Amino acid sequence: MKLLFIGDVVGSIGREMVEQYLPKLKNKYKPQLTILNGENSANGRGITEKNYKEFLQAGVDVVTMGNHTWDNQDIFEFIDDAKKLIRPANYPEDSTPGKGIVYVKINHLEIAVINLHGRTFTMDLDDPFRKADELIKQAQERTPIIFIDFHAETTSEKLAFGWYVDGRVSAVIGTHTHVQTNDARILPEGTAYLTDAGMTGFYDGIIGVKKEPVIYKFMTQMPVRFEVPDEGRKQINGCYIELDDKTGKAKSIETIRIDSDTPFFN
Ligand SMILES: [Fe+2]
Repeated sequence: MKLLFIGDVVGSIGREMVEQYLPKLKNKYKPQLTILNGENSANGRGITEKNYKEFLQAGVDVVTMGNHTWDNQDIFEFIDDAKKLIRPANYPEDSTPGKGIVYVKINHLEIAVINLHGRTFTMDLDDPFRKADELIKQAQERTPIIFIDFHAETTSEKLAFGWYVDGRVSAVIGTHTHVQTNDARILPEGTAYLTDAGMTGFYDGIIGVKKEPVIYKFMTQMPVRFEVPDEGRKQINGCYIELDDKTGKAKSIETIRIDSDTPFFN
């Protein structure tokens, strides 16, 4: 099983990058499944139905979310019908629209894709570790191929989670912090792991937005409005993973980084 993951797509400039490079990446890696984190795709906050449908049209199979899931009101209108969109599974079970796990069939294979959210310095959600136990058990009854997008703030929580599920899932890819980490590896029991896949969008800013207001905020502690530019130099980040179809264990993982300083080569 060949799997392509695209890190957090931020605003129209990020969506343009997906449009431009997803065909090239598909041509190079020939993935059977493409997963994309889309929680920032609507101008940095949330996702619209139009964004979601455009991603599917561009060849994305599953869209994952995070802390910005509910920022665009439009989500409440379409999330229950969006079969290939998942939000963090550790929101309270009985009161949250949408779902946190999806099964995708590719020929004779099935893959479970799970979205979970860390808790350190973010939201007071249900325990993602125990929620993972429950969902992994459920998924293992159908397939050994299980992918997790773990959306979290701290490297330590992401690493702790990766080690906790090592050998029980095929891959744990971190999202949310928007800066790609240089620690892609296969953990000893066979789980592909990356602390953060990085983002897709504006290259000359700070985690997707214009740099000046962010610098001003750090220097003054005054409230500012962050702005996602719609033009400028762009980047796309993610990773490519190969799995053993029978065991679901990872065979390889490599990061993908394309920007003006790291041009794309076929
Ligand atoms: Fe996030």
